[in-house]
Order: sequence, then structure tokens, then C-alpha cells
Amino acid sequence: MALLPILRYPDNRLHKKAERIREVTPEIRLLAADMAETMYEAPGIGLAATQVDRHIRLIVVDVSEDQSELLTFINPEIIEKSGECVGEEGCLSVPGIYETVTRAERIKVKALNLDGKEFQMQAEGLLAVCIQHEIDHLQGKVFVEYLSNLKQTRIKSKLAKKARITA
Ligand code: NI
Repeated sequence: MALLPILRYPDNRLHKKAERIREVTPEIRLLAADMAETMYEAPGIGLAATQVDRHIRLIVVDVSEDQSELLTFINPEIIEKSGECVGEEGCLSVPGIYETVTRAERIKVKALNLDGKEFQMQAEGLLAVCIQHEIDHLQGKVFVEYLSNLKQTRIKSKLAKKARITA
């Protein structure tokens, strides 16, 4: 397995729309494993293929405290949502930035697993938020785009400054 480089906002490639996966091949399974390793190492609770510059509909999520509940969603689709929850979010592509976003409290998601079999799952709370955040990535959307233009500009200049310091 391998660690993959994560694209950093405001990289334009984060705005590419991911394509549906036609077949779950060994290559897709390897990518999913590498993404999980990359997410755990970061550390983070979710990662979308978009963030590692692979523009296909694949996300990995694990909101447990001991990295014991890895979930892989291929071609995920939210088929039901209800309620509202407001929470602070961060993103491995936007390091050090945490902002409040409003999302659905409960969702039902349909996807394929690593065997190419369709499954449905209900999620709520943090898991539901995380899945919505990762599916946004597949649509080319980064969570800071829910914020005002002024806030987005501030975040961009903050990240640019940080990049200069670490370069
Ligand atoms: Ni993210």
C-alpha cells in the first residue's frame, strides 16, 4: 500500500466532477486501500478520490476513535435526507481551517461495496455529516464554498501564507 499526496485548496483539480465507476476492479480496490491508509495517516475521518487527484466516485470514511469502522462507498448516492445539524467541519485539503456548516442530520445512502454489490445504509450525526462532506468532494465542492465570499478569500490568503512558510 502507499500514501497518496492530498490536493490542497484552492487547487483547481478539487473542482473536477468525478465519474461513475463502471466496474470494481482490483485497481479500484487498491486505490481504496491506499486512500484508507492516507486518511488514517493524515489523520482524518474521510477522504474522497478527488482529493488524491483521481476523479472517480469513490470515498472512504471512518468516524470511530480506534480506526475500526472503515466504510468504502463506490458510486455513493444520497437517496433520503432529513433534519438539520450545524457543526464545525475541517478538511484534509484545507488544513488548519474549521468552519461551521449546516447539513442534513440523517441520510440514507446507496452505494456499491468493494465486491461490487449494492448496499444501502442509514447514517446520522457525525457519520452523516462526513458522508455528505465526502460526496460533495466528488461533485467538485469543498466545504469552504458554503461560506461567504469574504470568508473564502480570507481562507485562501491564510493558506497561501502558510504554504510560503512551509515551502
Ligand atoms: Ni474534505
